[in-house]
Order: sequence, then structure tokens, then C-alpha cells
Amino acid sequence: MKRIVNILLSSAVLFLAAGAATQAHALDGAELYKTKTCWSCHGKDADTPIMPIYPKLAGQNSDYAYNQMKDIKSGARSNGQTAAMKGVMGLVNDEEMRAIADWLSTL
Ligand code: HEC
Repeated sequence: MKRIVNILLSSAVLFLAAGAATQAHALDGAELYKTKTCWSCHGKDADTPIMPIYPKLAGQNSDYAYNQMKDIKSGARSNGQTAAMKGVMGLVNDEEMRAIADWLSTL
């Protein structure tokens, strides 16, 4: 009996661990785009920015978008209106930027 309980317990632990691992790798770009406030400047559909001079992001190449985010965050890209966005970039880490960029490219 004890052995069965042990087996059941270790399967439960494995199951939970697998669930946590999946979650960590499957960040939801669409959700992050909302919660990290990106939409407030780039528009809810990522295609209608609040200012005509702000870029449309929908359909952008994923690697390109990711690299721009990284550069704006680090300050390597500091031109045009980047100052408007830089402050927000403290809210996102590398993995989150990647997930958002991947999602944007699907729009
Ligand atoms: C306060 C307004 C604001 C917020 C919030 C904001 N951005 Fe931006 N973003 C801008 C502006 C303005 C630019 C264009 C900078 C320039 O003129 O060079 C830009 C540029 C970009 C670019 C590069 C576009 C290109 O074509 O080169 C990407 C990608 C981007 N933003 C993604 C995001 C993501 C993802 C978020 C949320 C984590 C976000 N932005 C939040 C204002 C904002």
C-alpha cells in the first residue's frame, strides 16, 4: 500500500513539474501585450497607434521586432520617439519580449 501511495505521489509531482515547465515556456504574447501596457501607445490591434508617428507593429517580422525592443530597452536604439517607450521596457524581460514579438508577427 505504501508503495502505491509513493508511486501516486511521485506521479503527481512529475505532473505538476511538467505543468510548471510548460507554462514557463509558453508565454502568451497577446496577453503580455495587454498587461505590459504596449497597447496604450501601439493600439489594441497593434495597428492603430495613438499618434500617427508611432509605429504599427502588426505583422512585423518577429526577429526584427524583438531586436528593436531589445535595443530600445538597452538604449542602443535612441532615435525618433524611442524615449516615449523606453520607460515601459523595464516591465518586460527577454523571454517576454520574444513572446510578444512572435505574437505580433502572426497578426
Ligand atoms: C509610451 C508609448 C509606448 C509604449 C507604452 C510602448 N511603445 Fe513601442 N514604441 C513607441 C514609439 C514612440 C516607438 C517608435 C520610436 C521611434 O520613433 O523610433 C516604438 C517602437 C516600438 C517598436 C519598434 C518598431 C519598429 O518598426 O522599429 C516595437 C517592436 C515596439 N515599440 C514594441 C512595443 C512593445 C512590445 C511594448 C510593450 C512592452 C511597447 N512597444 C510599448 C511607443 C511606445
